[in-house]
Amino acid sequence: MIQNNETMSVLIKNGRIVTASEDYIADLYIENGKIAVIGANLPHQAQKTIDATGKLVFPGGIDPHVHLDMPFMGTFSSDDYESGTRAALFGGTTTVIDFILQTQGDTLHNALKTWQQKSKKAIGDYSYHMAVTDFNDEVAKEVVDLIENVGITSFKTFMAYKGALMIDDGQMVQLMKVVKEHGGLVTVHATNGDVIDSMIAKHLSEGKTAPLYHYLSQPEVTESEASARFCDMLHYTGCTGYIVHMTCEGALNAVRRAGLRNQRVFVETCPQYLTVDASVYENDFEGAKWVMSPPIREKKDQAALWSGLQQGLINAVGTDHCPFTWEQKLLGKDNFAKIPNGHPAIEHRMELLFSEGVKKGRISLNKFVEVTATNVAKIFGMYPQKGTIAIGSDADVVVFDPEAKHVISKDTHHMNVDYSSYEGWEVTGKTETVLLRGEVAIENGKCHLEAGNGRFVKRGKTSYVI
Ligand code: URP
Ligand code: ZN
Ligand code: ZN
Repeated sequence: MIQNNETMSVLIKNGRIVTASEDYIADLYIENGKIAVIGANLPHQAQKTIDATGKLVFPGGIDPHVHLDMPFMGTFSSDDYESGTRAALFGGTTTVIDFILQTQGDTLHNALKTWQQKSKKAIGDYSYHMAVTDFNDEVAKEVVDLIENVGITSFKTFMAYKGALMIDDGQMVQLMKVVKEHGGLVTVHATNGDVIDSMIAKHLSEGKTAPLYHYLSQPEVTESEASARFCDMLHYTGCTGYIVHMTCEGALNAVRRAGLRNQRVFVETCPQYLTVDASVYENDFEGAKWVMSPPIREKKDQAALWSGLQQGLINAVGTDHCPFTWEQKLLGKDNFAKIPNGHPAIEHRMELLFSEGVKKGRISLNKFVEVTATNVAKIFGMYPQKGTIAIGSDADVVVFDPEAKHVISKDTHHMNVDYSSYEGWEVTGKTETVLLRGEVAIENGKCHLEAGNGRFVKRGKTSYVI
């Protein structure tokens, strides 16, 4: 029986503790849900002791980009807060930031209420970005209230999905001005929606309906142009910005160019863009598994993204977890534009990045921790409560076996989806034990926490220094 974390004490012995800047062997003593003591050969007696000899011990991951139970393209993403945060915990992610979607014509606060209801059954911790899909003077006041009083300090914008989520550039600039004045952050899905819509219409008019045409409707220029435009609007308003799910060299170069005029724009990419290339769309309707926006790109883009991580231009790795069952994907059987966009990934972010990044020598262990936890906490105003191993931080801790090999499969994953995009992939490195605020969340392949355990993380203003 797991005890309440107000009383539970845990001693993690002899692990290799890795943070964004350090790497050493020590013990961790955890009390009242917090990291209380760090040191070699600690004498403390705890109610539970974990032997972490030969294992890595790093901060619980924070996924900055998930869509749980989200209404989208005529259906809902198939993981809700319970199944989604459980699967995240199995993969070593203890906190997720989900997106609240404003309904166009309605208020941000009404949308907030809907998401607060959905998130009551969270198992892991969570926070929200607020997606502003319809900006006006009344919404501006709500933005201020969310930053100052609610602890939602990041505002998502879409430069695509016209008619549902997209705002125009005028709204974008006005939103940026308000957000800047109050110390928040504007995040963006940066693709040129008008160009994409015209290409979709053209392909469909020519009878081109397969998933391949999803890819061909969103060429690199649609993302690089929108990323550059977003950077220009940030430059004009002085607002701080964050580009979500960056996929390609052209978009990264837009950020590089912004750097030439002393701008800093935060960037996120996702494991799928680092590891998979567009050949997945050649396989007829199987390609629907990879129908997401922006689409999977070319090998040269993978190389650019890895170098973006190495150069510190890409600050975070999220999943853009937006799962749909195969039946839902079949909604677009005869028309790629009706395939719900997104794929299941929340469970595999840490293990994929460790296996493809650290094990293959592309990023260091410290960089791995930085982009999966520490930078996310800093950028989104929850550091040092979350995102590091330090005295006083929440005891969100992963004990990770760096040598264990395993194979990803729909038969063993915990996401509410009947396929895995990564079916059969062998990865090296496995999440073994996970603590959430000092409670044992994952151990021996089981989740020990229940729905309702997750807590909302009230975020502070963005810290610009990372
Ligand atoms: O295909 C995607 N990415 N689906 C989720 C919505 C979004 O654009 O992030
Ligand atoms: Zn997006
Ligand atoms: Zn997304």
